Amino acid sequence: MNKIKSVDETFNDLKIKLSKIVPEAELLLASELIVEIEELKKERNAVILGHNYMEPALYHSVPDYKGDSLELSRRAAETKADIIVFCGVEFMAETAKILSPEKTVLVPSDRAGCSLAESITAEDVRALKKLYPNAPVVTYVNTYADVKAETDICCTSSNAVKVVNHLATDTVIFLPDAYLAANVARETGKKIVYAKKINGEIVCDATADKNVLIVWQGFCEVHDRFSVEDVQSIRKQSPETMILAHPECKADVVEACDFSGSTSAMIKAVKEGNAKSYALFTECSMGDNIIAENQDKELLRMCSFRCPYMAQITLEMTRDALKYNRYEVNISNELIDKARLSLNRMLEIH
Ligand code: 13P
Ligand code: SF4
Repeated sequence: MNKIKSVDETFNDLKIKLSKIVPEAELLLASELIVEIEELKKERNAVILGHNYMEPALYHSVPDYKGDSLELSRRAAETKADIIVFCGVEFMAETAKILSPEKTVLVPSDRAGCSLAESITAEDVRALKKLYPNAPVVTYVNTYADVKAETDICCTSSNAVKVVNHLATDTVIFLPDAYLAANVARETGKKIVYAKKINGEIVCDATADKNVLIVWQGFCEVHDRFSVEDVQSIRKQSPETMILAHPECKADVVEACDFSGSTSAMIKAVKEGNAKSYALFTECSMGDNIIAENQDKELLRMCSFRCPYMAQITLEMTRDALKYNRYEVNISNELIDKARLSLNRMLEIH
């Protein structure tokens, strides 16, 4: 195992990447926390998984692995560590627990929710399955374990199209993100039919339709805020800017942009691209993280949409997670066994 760096060494490393993004006084405080976290990690045989949306000082220091939901799920399934600290939101930590049930999984905040995960319940999925018993249920990983347990196969933003094509069935229930569903429908040539909840009852009139995605009306409160007018305004002011959108944005926004993909796919596109400048339609910490690693690139600093749930995870909370063993993810064995099937089916698709 590598020797733990001193506070001074850590501070110098952080300054090289982040001095234009984070004030030096904050970087110094961060360096002290990072050294503490590294010591605790070693002492407890822990691994830290960090989502691409983590704030810059955290993202560029303590995670052993960084990535999008799919990449981190794969890491969680493979790790040999005793403890997984998931620097991301709760549904991601739950996914890690489902894939590695024998490990202790910690998420540093108990307020790291997700508007998509909150939008649907297991009861809603059961009601939809009653309406369409022959249609497979594809569920975005941005859902809780009880919803995954009712699911045939999960998907992430990076493999949603692949998963729907892999099923090769006429009608698919696709939950819960209506915008991701519309983007998948465009790429798979399927039609969208919305299921609605009226007075507690789920209604959907997809009976006569063929080749459809039956869709729930959930959305991400962060990506919902980007509009076609935003795209037009960038095009007008800076026509050479390459605009990248996460597929949780509305379909008309994605269609108007130059590139769409998972958080890691966007990072790669900027890194490998040769555009004059870039604009990212996604959570804004990711822009800072990209710039820190690509200081020769110009990114339009238009971003003010921070995911309030991802923002709960700080270096201090990560240190406390390891110090006080909090907040441990607990899921019943029955739910784990059911939910794992839907995740494993997804992970088997390459
Ligand atoms: P990725 O799987 O692309 O990282 O997306 C997760 C997410 O929550 C985006 O809002
Ligand atoms: Fe959920 Fe949206 Fe935050 Fe991603 S950005 S975790 S989808 S609320």
